[in-house]
Order: sequence, then structure tokens, then C-alpha cells
Amino acid sequence: MKVLENVSLKPYNTFGIDCTARYFAIIESRSDLRKIYAEPEFLKLPKLILGGGSNILLCSDFEGLVIKIDLKGIEGLTDGSVKVQAGENWHDFVLWSLKNGYNGIENLSLIPGNVGTAPMQNIGAYGVELKDVFLDLEAFHIESEEVHVFSNSQCEFGYRESIFKHSRRGEYIILSVRFNLANTGNVDVRYGAITAVLESKSIVNPTPKQVSDAVISIRESKLPDPKKIGNAGSFFKNPVILKSDFIKLQEQYKDIPSYPINDVEVKVPAGWLIEKSGWKGKVIDNYGVHKNQALVLVNYGGANGNDIYQLAKKIQESVKSSFDIHLHMEVNIIK
Ligand code: EPU
Repeated sequence: MKVLENVSLKPYNTFGIDCTARYFAIIESRSDLRKIYAEPEFLKLPKLILGGGSNILLCSDFEGLVIKIDLKGIEGLTDGSVKVQAGENWHDFVLWSLKNGYNGIENLSLIPGNVGTAPMQNIGAYGVELKDVFLDLEAFHIESEEVHVFSNSQCEFGYRESIFKHSRRGEYIILSVRFNLANTGNVDVRYGAITAVLESKSIVNPTPKQVSDAVISIRESKLPDPKKIGNAGSFFKNPVILKSDFIKLQEQYKDIPSYPINDVEVKVPAGWLIEKSGWKGKVIDNYGVHKNQALVLVNYGGANGNDIYQLAKKIQESVKSSFDIHLHMEVNIIK
């Protein structure tokens, strides 16, 4: 393992922000990880653990050590579970699952990022979340240098949430994840947009691959491809508000969409709130709000992370003043 100096992070974050890492290490094995944490030179430095770089916004150069997790491998185990190393690309894993006769993650096609970071924010799309197929994970405990196993319940998954964003924040590096995938061929097409694509192709009993293709086409039509336009997917979480507050909003905005949560709460699409606040498609110099999905902030090339962060704060203020709703940023802001 080599530790490089003054490395541009541009290829390592999907926002395409050109910040520099003072030190940069690519971890290809567990022993690499132990070696790096045993190096006195690096012990005291701030560290940034990087997976696919698809959920971060770099606001300045990083004056510490960036640890890029590049552990590879996908294997079907004899107990029927599938073990995937943290550095595997998420979408490649979805394609692998389809090729090998599994189903369960086709709705999560084309989500940027790596398998090892997927549990951190319990990735989700079109009615399915990672937690629905997650068995357990192995994580390197930085302080003790031991490997600990976290079961599904121990991860405390929620909507774009896990224990690794809260009480265990910064304590662990995820090494591998085990999945419990089905091979029944059953699919989940409750989400209207998927049904619409399938109907347009006259597909009646869709296979998991056909659902995956539908999801890919929906995402490609709505969401910018990070290879072409820098972005980190949804920048904000969809806010959960009281049903009573929602009813009041509905009196004013007849078309306000919502997803039911429970008897007292509903989730409101942040994209709708941002659009109604007038930000959709806004371009400021070389960054802005995506024209097809207001939940996605974009870097058209050469933007500064801090400018995008300031834009995000302005959007938060607008939505707060128009709807009295606070939007939480989903993306990790690295200041
Ligand atoms: N909407 C607008 N204006 C917009 C965007 C959306 O009015 O600019 C409205 C749409 O009309 C629709 C509703 O908002 O009624 C929902 O939009 P969409 O189906 O695009 O989903 P979302 O709630 O905006 C969430 C996830 C996405 C995921 C989709 C599909 C979050 C924060 N985002 O978005 O996840 O792909 O559902 O399941 O939960 C991601 O996390 O990076 C991501 C893209």
C-alpha cells in the first residue's frame, strides 16, 4: 500500500469538486487498514473515509489523510447469503445479483456509491430500502482495531439513517456486508413510476431484470448522471411533518404530494417544496439546482463546494420561510 501526497479528490467524489487531500491511501486489504492505523505519522491527522464519494460535498482542501476503501469481492455463501466487500460498486452488485438469479435489490438499480457506504444511510428507492435485504456487516473498530459484526437491528436503520450516522459516527469502517437476497423472481412494483414504464412496454409479469431496466430508465430521465454533471443525488431528506400541519398546508396548496408514515405523520417530497420556493432549475455561475429534480444540487464544472453549501443553506431558509419546514441535508458536508 502506498500513501500518496497532495492528491486531487476530483475523481473520487461524484460532485466532481476539485479539492486536494494532503495524504491519500488506497486500502485493498484488511492488513492495509491495520498498517495505516499503526503508522505514527498518520495517527494524529484528521481522517476522511471514502467509499464511492457519492454522498459528500467537499468544501475545502483536506489537510489530513483520506482513506479510500477499495476492498473487492462478491461471493455467494453456502448458507444462501451473499457477502460483498465494501469497495464494490453498488450498481455492479445489483447487476451481479440479477445475473446470478437473485431478486430484491432491482429497485435499487443505478444508485451511485459503494456497497460499504450503502448501510450508513440505508439507501433506498422506489419502495425498497437496503435494510429489507440486509443481514449483517463486518466493521473495523478504529479504536480497538478489532472487527465487529452488526446485525440488522444493531444497525438501527431508519429513513436514510443508521447507527453509523449517530451514536457510532466516526468509530467504524465498514469492511463487508452480507445480504439475504431471494431467488423467487418476485418483484415490487408498487411505485407508480415503475408501473407506468412497464405498462408503456406492455410488460405484464415483469422479471427482476425488467424492473431494474425500468428503474434505470426512470433514474436516467430524472436524475443527472454524475459522470456528466457533478451531483450527490438527493441533497436533502424528505421531511416528516405532523399530519395536522400537513392538513393546514393542503388547504393552501391543493396539489401538495405526501407519503403516509403513520397515524400522525406524513413525509413531504423536499423536491416539491424546493420547486414551489422557486429554486428548480436555478443556475448560479457553474452550479445550481437540477432542472428535472429540485432535490438535486449540481456542479456544472469547476464549482466550489462551499458555494454549493451556501446555496443549500439558502434553500433551507426559503423552504423554512415559505412552509415553516426545516429541510435536513442528506449529503455529508466536509468543511
Ligand atoms: N417533485 C416535485 N418537484 C421536483 C421533484 C419532485 O414536485 O423537482 C415531486 C414529484 O412530483 C413527486 C414527488 O415530488 O410527486 C416525489 O418525487 P420523486 O419520485 O422523484 O422522489 P423523491 O421523493 O423526490 C426519493 C428519494 C430518491 C429516490 C426517489 C424514488 C429521498 C431524499 N430521495 O426522492 O433518492 O430515487 O424517492 O424512490 O428520499 C437519493 O437518495 O439520492 C435519491 C435520488
